[in-house]
Amino acid sequence: MQIQRKRFSVAPMMDWTDRHYRYMARLLSARATLYTEMIHARAIIHGDRSRHLDFHASEHPLVLQLGGSDAAHLAEAARIGEDWGYDEINLNCGCPSDRVASGSFGACLMADPMHVGHLVRAMKDAVSVPVTVKCRIGIEGRGLASRTGYEDLLLFARKMQDSGCDGLIVHARIAVLGGLNPAQNREVPPLRYEDVYRLKEDMPGLRIEINGGIRSPQEIQTHLNGALDGVMVGRAAYERPALLCSVDSLVHEIAEGRSALRGGAAVMFSSPHSGPDNSNPELQEIDTGAPGFAVPTISPDRLEWVLDSMKEYILARYAEGVPPQRIVRHMLGLVHGLPGARLFRQGLSGNWQRNLNSAASLDRYLGSTFAVFCNQLREHQSSGSLILQP
Ligand SMILES: Cc1cc2nc3c(=O)[nH]c(=O)nc-3n(C[C@H](O)[C@H](O)[C@H](O)COP(=O)(O)O)c2cc1C
Repeated sequence: MQIQRKRFSVAPMMDWTDRHYRYMARLLSARATLYTEMIHARAIIHGDRSRHLDFHASEHPLVLQLGGSDAAHLAEAARIGEDWGYDEINLNCGCPSDRVASGSFGACLMADPMHVGHLVRAMKDAVSVPVTVKCRIGIEGRGLASRTGYEDLLLFARKMQDSGCDGLIVHARIAVLGGLNPAQNREVPPLRYEDVYRLKEDMPGLRIEINGGIRSPQEIQTHLNGALDGVMVGRAAYERPALLCSVDSLVHEIAEGRSALRGGAAVMFSSPHSGPDNSNPELQEIDTGAPGFAVPTISPDRLEWVLDSMKEYILARYAEGVPPQRIVRHMLGLVHGLPGARLFRQGLSGNWQRNLNSAASLDRYLGSTFAVFCNQLREHQSSGSLILQP
């Protein structure tokens, strides 16, 4: 199986990109490649496989991300993943957390490119689906010889190519092991996109996808239009999942050799009195002000369809014993920037499910919460305070 030539993917994110989030992400984008959270190879071999690996058939194309540093374990876990139906296996060489580093996997693996090459070879020999590696541009700290220069990245990438690796996804920051926590490691080390582009120039035969700090359709388009083979987005795709609505047409057009960025069905909220919910300053950065997608959000019709589909999904999982709040927590970002978002989120946060003790009451509660929101949205639309982009 081949990886699509130019691809957009949603990054693996622990606790965030579980199967429930991924189900919703697929409703928003038919084409995005989705990743599991990182799962340790040993957990797959010895743990509850169904809990770790089950997914919905709609989630394809779907990549299983593995953590680990033992070749036999990784090969075995990769084989199990392929048998389970995953389209690709990815090795985590980018996670900087202390817990992960003390198990000698994640980003600290980049200190030993020979060993990672050995791990990739073992996985390649075990499966027929592509095997890729997600890494940083370098690492430093924790008594390691620092590997922060471009030449270190080039050496690592060459080793990956020699080992049969089918592609690198490069988070364009170094990882600082020991000194910074994981959240700081996603913000503090500066982004060096130029290293990723230079790597592609030096190694045109290796698939290279870029990750880190990409938040808007414009940025996605710029990277996809360049020499790189793909763009991976993490936090923005979780915090504002409506972003995913715009990627299908982008990827399609770029694959076809066209690259226009249009507004499509995006909606802008333009009331002068109660503007977009800008309570989270981090998320404001995505509003670039460019025409077309100034606020990458979602049309009322699309949103209603997504909410209805999620209601059916929540009810189906409820029948299997999955608490609804485990799914609903991923939906709070869906309404970001839309009027009524705060009420919607309040209705679905805290102890909202405490008095719901049957599928029928859950169905009624979700149905009315979603309907109230969508009806209000339509009222805003007909009063002109929601502007559909041409
Ligand atoms: C909550 C959270 C959990 C993450 N878990 C993983 C993980 O399991 N595996 C991994 O390779 N990266 C993980 N990452 C890193 C992301 O995949 C991504 O590389 C990083 O967030 C930078 O991309 P972004 O700026 O688009 O968010 C995680 C990030 C976040 C925010």
